Amino acid sequence: MKGIEDQVMKLREQINYHNHKYHTLDSPEIKDSEFDTLFEELKSLEARNPEIITTDSPTQRMGAVPLESFSQIRHERPMLSLDNAFTEKDLDDFEKRVRKNTPGNSSPTFVGEPKIDGVAVSLIYQDGRLSRAATRGDGLVGEDVTKNVRTIDTVPLALLGSDFPESIEIRGEIYIPIPEFENMNSVLRKSGKKEFANPRNAAAGSLRQLDPSETAKRPLKFFAYSADYQHPNEMPSEHSEVLDDLDRWGVRTNPLRQILTGSSTCLAYYEWLALERPKLNYEIDGVVFKVNLLSLQKKIGFVSRAPRWAIAKKFPAEEAVTYIQAVKFQVGRTGALTPVARLEPIKVGGVTIRNASLHNMDEVRRLKVRIGDAVLVQRAGDVIPKVKKRITKKSKPRTQEIELPTECPVCGGNIIRDSGLVVARCGSGWNCLAQKKERIKHFSSRLAMDIRGLGNKIISQLVDEDHVVRISDLYRLDHKTLSLLDRLGSKSANNILLAIENSKTTTFPRFIYALGIPDVGESTAKELCLFFGNIENLARAPEELLLQVPDVGMVIASNVRQFFDHQDNFDVVMELIDLGVIWDEEIPIAFKPLEDQAIVITGTLENYSRSELKEKLELLGAKVSSSVSKRTSLVIAGKSPGSKLLKARELGIEILSEIDLKDFLEEYRV
Ligand code: IVH
Repeated sequence: MKGIEDQVMKLREQINYHNHKYHTLDSPEIKDSEFDTLFEELKSLEARNPEIITTDSPTQRMGAVPLESFSQIRHERPMLSLDNAFTEKDLDDFEKRVRKNTPGNSSPTFVGEPKIDGVAVSLIYQDGRLSRAATRGDGLVGEDVTKNVRTIDTVPLALLGSDFPESIEIRGEIYIPIPEFENMNSVLRKSGKKEFANPRNAAAGSLRQLDPSETAKRPLKFFAYSADYQHPNEMPSEHSEVLDDLDRWGVRTNPLRQILTGSSTCLAYYEWLALERPKLNYEIDGVVFKVNLLSLQKKIGFVSRAPRWAIAKKFPAEEAVTYIQAVKFQVGRTGALTPVARLEPIKVGGVTIRNASLHNMDEVRRLKVRIGDAVLVQRAGDVIPKVKKRITKKSKPRTQEIELPTECPVCGGNIIRDSGLVVARCGSGWNCLAQKKERIKHFSSRLAMDIRGLGNKIISQLVDEDHVVRISDLYRLDHKTLSLLDRLGSKSANNILLAIENSKTTTFPRFIYALGIPDVGESTAKELCLFFGNIENLARAPEELLLQVPDVGMVIASNVRQFFDHQDNFDVVMELIDLGVIWDEEIPIAFKPLEDQAIVITGTLENYSRSELKEKLELLGAKVSSSVSKRTSLVIAGKSPGSKLLKARELGIEILSEIDLKDFLEEYRV
């Protein structure tokens, strides 16, 4: 037993280490597949020895059962808000106030940090283990979101190292990165559901799910911005050292922080961050300046709900008014034409913008914009700016209508406007150079086949010079062809060839996503693969069966069917496989035999851990709940079952022993 415990501890440590490398430091040391092997090994050891499972085991991130409601938690110390500096004078006044309290009236040192636009949380670690997480609430009382926070990869379940305080409260911000937010909204939009207004709302909504497994599916991340150690005498003397401690203990802090002296340096940092802002993949709404010396913070103290030792300077809204000089149509991966407004160049939040998206012709009509009009443009995060509205007062009288081209601006092909759909497309498909390039870009992108180093310029040349006529030609490229491309040396050519070779070993969902079937994003690809298990099943599935896959509606079902009905597409898929593209097959679950069944597990199981069994049952469509009620359809009883079994008997609910259960699961190969 001792041996197993040691093995489990070692695996957990290794997994925590690599998890930190991957999620917090963004510099993985091992391949995903190697990580998966470690994880699977731990899972199976724990499954065979359920008594050694602890809540901080990395396998438990997804495991918790849904809650009825959140319980309330009173914060040890109130979670405060920040005063705002609206003008430069406000910032000067703040510095003067701090200076008055500084010995010798000398220039105080501040830490400048981005103000993350997310949801504040307080995390408590006891003996290095995450023991409680709470939302800010009204600042005094928040909600217990421990189970949900445990699912967030960037929140360590156990601190690294050994020199952390016995008890520590870490505060920080939970947020959703902008690209992931846009993905979430596009899924909601496609399924006709209400979209989130902004990443902050999406983060708040995702964190406050009663079912932690729902939170686990959301792309939440965490940045810590302060900590309180159990004993004040354990604290370092400066706030910046606290953040450095957190880094060492594996807690993610924001790398853009800087130590600053004097209000003009603070202002320069603010200006710099305003320029960085559009490049970040998360939303920040300003800068927070904090007195660095903790003893000075203490001396300066608080007024009502805000500290006097910190201040926030918000960024102005990233909007500006300019004129539309022309409208060009871009051809996307699926042939969709996007009207893009060429603007009279204008600075927005420090960045000059020249183009803004008008999305589609329906949007053009809704906005009632014409070429020559004055428009309000908005920049948000890293994405292409948008035209928000027409500014009537400033628009010139002689403007020109925006018209959909009659032929594809790239290949001259026919434009198709599917009835009922707002998008106009070039109908030439793979024969349109623009679509071909975009499809190859998608195929090789990070979440698809992940061919590093195959940049847009290289793809463009490979297509223009006919080296890549079909996607499968990527796997026929040789060193000579690549090294002869513009500005590509022999070394880069080798690197690309290596990346191409490495990309051959992939996963089924990545491959399906890489094919670029319209509307089949990363998560739909996963659902399709899970449902059909292999390419043969998927490629021949009729629309009615496709419709049974979670998240697949009429449009996607028909797109998938059309894709595989196209002989060329089918051939390319087969060629890719012939050329060595390979993945592990998954177990097909083309139907859900336990759909809508509410199952309760009681007693100790010999062959499975609770979470493992729950996962298996859910795979077959069941809902696993924690208490027996009239709605329960089946109770699985292990050794020494508790009162749940009695209740099930009383209610006449079907009871299954572990042996029967094993047979049942084996029948379905889960
Ligand atoms: S310090 C008492 N640092 O902004 C100090 N807060 O308006 C308050 N926030 O609810 C926290 N990024 O959730 C601090 N780098 C940062 C922050 C930050 C975002 C949020 C925080 C708080 C709100 C205050």
